[in-house]
Amino acid sequence: MRQVACPAPPTKEHAVSDSKALDQVTLTAGDKAVALPVLKPTLGNDCVDISRLTKETGLFTYDSGFTATASCKSAVTYIDGDKGVLLYRGYPIEQLAEHSNFLEVAYLLMNGELPSKEAFSAFENEVTHHTMMHEKLKNFLQGFNYDAHPMAMLAASVASLSAFYHDTLDLEDPEQRRLAAIRLIAKVPTLAAAAYRYSIGWPIRYPRNNVGYVDRFLHMMFELPSEPLEMNPVVAKALDLLFILHADHEQNASTSTVRLVGSTGANPYASVAAGITALWGPAHGGANEAVLKMLDEIGTADKVETAVARAKDKSDPFRLMGFGHRVYKNFDPRAKIIREMTHKVLGELGVDDPLLEVAMKLEEAALKDEYFVERKLYPNVDFYSGIIYKALKIPTEMFTVMFAIGRTAGWVAHWLEQQVDPEMKIGRPRQIYTGYDVRDYKGAGDR
Ligand code: ACO
Repeated sequence: MRQVACPAPPTKEHAVSDSKALDQVTLTAGDKAVALPVLKPTLGNDCVDISRLTKETGLFTYDSGFTATASCKSAVTYIDGDKGVLLYRGYPIEQLAEHSNFLEVAYLLMNGELPSKEAFSAFENEVTHHTMMHEKLKNFLQGFNYDAHPMAMLAASVASLSAFYHDTLDLEDPEQRRLAAIRLIAKVPTLAAAAYRYSIGWPIRYPRNNVGYVDRFLHMMFELPSEPLEMNPVVAKALDLLFILHADHEQNASTSTVRLVGSTGANPYASVAAGITALWGPAHGGANEAVLKMLDEIGTADKVETAVARAKDKSDPFRLMGFGHRVYKNFDPRAKIIREMTHKVLGELGVDDPLLEVAMKLEEAALKDEYFVERKLYPNVDFYSGIIYKALKIPTEMFTVMFAIGRTAGWVAHWLEQQVDPEMKIGRPRQIYTGYDVRDYKGAGDR
């Protein structure tokens, strides 16, 4: 078995599961009764272990979209969607947002504990010294058309890292796995900024070692070769906070994708590249870009009412982007933090953006509309992050890329955890086949 890199999960003393809850459930299939054990998490819903079901009854289970299915055991992140709770390794997101920084959070997610001063310094130093991208990657990026979406360039260039770093592809070696994780956290911002600069025809900036993680990224994005970049600490602080809030979100679509690809034994660069492509969709991380497009489309505050009416009309495919969440059926705790930050950033930067008026009117209208209240459709993290990114002068096509930079910390933490999971198996769901029964081939003249 592979060497365990993460600390053991909390013990039962911390458990909050109802002690009176069931230890097993019995499923009756015809005249056969199957006792299925109930697994107890340290926090959250108990889970019926159905792994014996098929063997004993021949039945599969069906759960489209995995709304009630746990795909793995994980000690990284906990969400209580009804109470609006988000914990990274047990720490409430509100405390991390107030006191920590993104790189410390990345360490926490990867290693399970907050670092000592010395451990943090060593981690920061290691990340800093892995931020360069191979010079040949420039040629690779130049193969793209200038108007390529930066998410396409990011996914492709992250996948290509596996062609450059053969020395971290032995998944049996814990040191190689750790180094691959560091490389991903370090290089994703470099690749992201390079993709952006390529798309606007600016020369790629090399990462600076004399500044922190977020400042380095801002330099790579915005510094002109001809003049130094004047850093605004409000911008750097806001970005750091957004990276923290985006860092992990348990088994969301992109993280589950990373784990699914990882379960095949694919290398970490390929696994994270797959996560990036999953994040791109507008139902997931692509929503922040979609929010801005929607606000632009709505245009002015007086059109908000029509937009809300359209969102409620089932014959209209229009949905309010940035509203609703698969897990949060209460206010997304990250959205609460970002909402406050949005007002602060806009105030401090002196931004007077008419789209913000549209956004605030939309938020107000949806929060008191019966349709949204009944379905518990609250603004999610993407609703506000798009507005902040706009205020920070991050171009709209880069919004989901920004999300990917933060989420890389979570992806690598889950990938590392999965690699030492003794129960890890290749992810291979079943299906309900709805096609034809067997039939005979007919030549073209007989069809
Ligand atoms: N606008 C209007 N109606 C909505 C919206 C919305 N944004 N979201 C959900 N609904 C409605 C659905 O039509 C459905 O109505 P019904 O019960 O009358 O049929 C009900 O609310 C439940 O919606 P589902 O789609 O079943 O909810 P699900 O949990 O599958 O989807 C999702 C969650 C994908 C986030 C959805 O709310 C959505 O598409 N939101 C907009 C896109 C978005 O903001 N995505 C970002 C998610 S957060 C993230 O990835 C960081």
